[in-house]
Amino acid sequence: MQDRIIVLGASGQIGTVLTAELRKIYGRDNVLATDIYPNSVSEGPFQVLDVLNIHRMAEIFEQFKPTQVYHLAAILSANGEANIKKTWHINMDGFLRVLEISLEKGVSKVFFPSSIAVYGRTTPKINTPQDSPLLPSTVYGISKMTGEVWSDYMFNRYGLDIRSLRYPGVIGWQSIPSGGTTDYAVEIYHAAFKMGHYDCFLKEDTVLPMIYMPDAIRATIELMEAPKSQIGVHYGYNLSGMSFTPKEIAESIRYFMPEFTISYQPDFRQEIAESWVRSIDDSKARSDWGWKPEYDLHKMTMDMLMHLQNKYGMTVISPLS
Ligand code: SER
Repeated sequence: MQDRIIVLGASGQIGTVLTAELRKIYGRDNVLATDIYPNSVSEGPFQVLDVLNIHRMAEIFEQFKPTQVYHLAAILSANGEANIKKTWHINMDGFLRVLEISLEKGVSKVFFPSSIAVYGRTTPKINTPQDSPLLPSTVYGISKMTGEVWSDYMFNRYGLDIRSLRYPGVIGWQSIPSGGTTDYAVEIYHAAFKMGHYDCFLKEDTVLPMIYMPDAIRATIELMEAPKSQIGVHYGYNLSGMSFTPKEIAESIRYFMPEFTISYQPDFRQEIAESWVRSIDDSKARSDWGWKPEYDLHKMTMDMLMHLQNKYGMTVISPLS
């Protein structure tokens, strides 16, 4: 049977790129993009949808008849703290409704994006094991942790095949994140072209786990396409790409743009970053469905600069370097 996919939150940082990739694989018209904002989504069917509008969501599911659903709509860690009730409402109620409708309509697979924000002060910070104590420090993190528990429950109680990844900070040239704590690692590349300087909101030695967009998208699709028998975790798989500090990413940019400078003005996001972990043990994802990242910091910076130099019309790196 031809798969039909609904992506919720398709205009966001990950949704934009994931929707385009899913369309390449499953065919343009078999992937319905939905979002509260109708911007920057690849060509193909699109419906405006606020995930809190449960009637509209039911109508869209009824009309499109999806076999798979990717639920990406959420408010991120830093923005979430400005309005904790709204964040909880959007992140949690929206997801519960997706679960309910997916069960009702016989959707065969659901993707739920979890995050490094589920980790907290009781979590081991280095090489964090899959099953670690979680005590999130943001409403976003609480909603992701609770979403993981709901996913596990729905799988065990109703057999709903939900799959989930704990994304590290995701970095890509195609889209701009908004309201996250790891956003600095995207902003810094744009600032390098626009100003030759970046004023970072985290301290220079703050280590965070990150992943380059092509790895994040590949992980998502590989997880969703893996045979059900290989999926041993239906809450959130630990997922690792690379770990670095603001100072290290600045150095990787300076390798190609020696004039680039950085300064540091840590704000409230520093505390959020410090509550997360530094590196992640993703051996469960590796052994269950063969996960392996391809990008390290240097390779990512080279690829980011190659793409952004076209956008900003400024050559800093030749395709052969
Ligand atoms: N990138 C997210 C954030 O910073 C973490 O999942 O909020």
